[in-house]
Amino acid sequence: MTKKGSAGSLKTRPGHRLGESVRVLISDARVQQRLKQLARDIRRDFPTETLHLIGVLKGSVFFLTDLARELGGEVSFDFLAVSSYGKGTDSTGEVKLIKDLDVSIEGKTVIVVEDILDTGLTLKYLLRFFEEKKPKHLRVVVLLDKVERRIADVRADYVGFVIPNEFVVGYGLDFDERYRNLPDVCVLQFASKGKAKSA
Ligand code: IMP
Repeated sequence: MTKKGSAGSLKTRPGHRLGESVRVLISDARVQQRLKQLARDIRRDFPTETLHLIGVLKGSVFFLTDLARELGGEVSFDFLAVSSYGKGTDSTGEVKLIKDLDVSIEGKTVIVVEDILDTGLTLKYLLRFFEEKKPKHLRVVVLLDKVERRIADVRADYVGFVIPNEFVVGYGLDFDERYRNLPDVCVLQFASKGKAKSA
């Protein structure tokens, strides 16, 4: 999912715009290390099952593909896309399905793969959507968890990193579709408006 930003400022160097800067919060190496552990935890819970990963586009793409390669055993995957209404780094919490699943999840061991858990409103919507489709198991893995931002009463079964209330980009996460290709998870800062906040 994308949270739209107020674009328009001049580019200073490729991928960056005037007044925006990034600082590394979690390095690519730490992400990869944690991912191996998450994969072990998931496989320990479902040692013989085919794991059907469902990635929420687009932020979870790198996380899902890296995780899939660490899981071992039989793995299949599918993607869906949702949008949330909101501007800048904020969201109103209204969620809309914009790309449905390609295959049925009935009777499958489903692992929902999310980039970041923020207010939890998206995940709440998704869990209700998936539960109606009667999977055998339904679990959630998130790379990042902004625990202090939670509004909805949801939790992930597997969490990569609990992070502070800062707007992050990189490793698939975007601001206005930019920064997804940064290898590290970084905090996005706006020089003109002070620190980028998602609160
Ligand atoms: P939630 O519904 O508030 O939990 O928001 C979940 C979605 O908002 C995530 O899947 C992201 O697409 C987006 N999001 C929330 N926080 C951030 C952030 O810090 N950076 C980039 N995207 C974010």
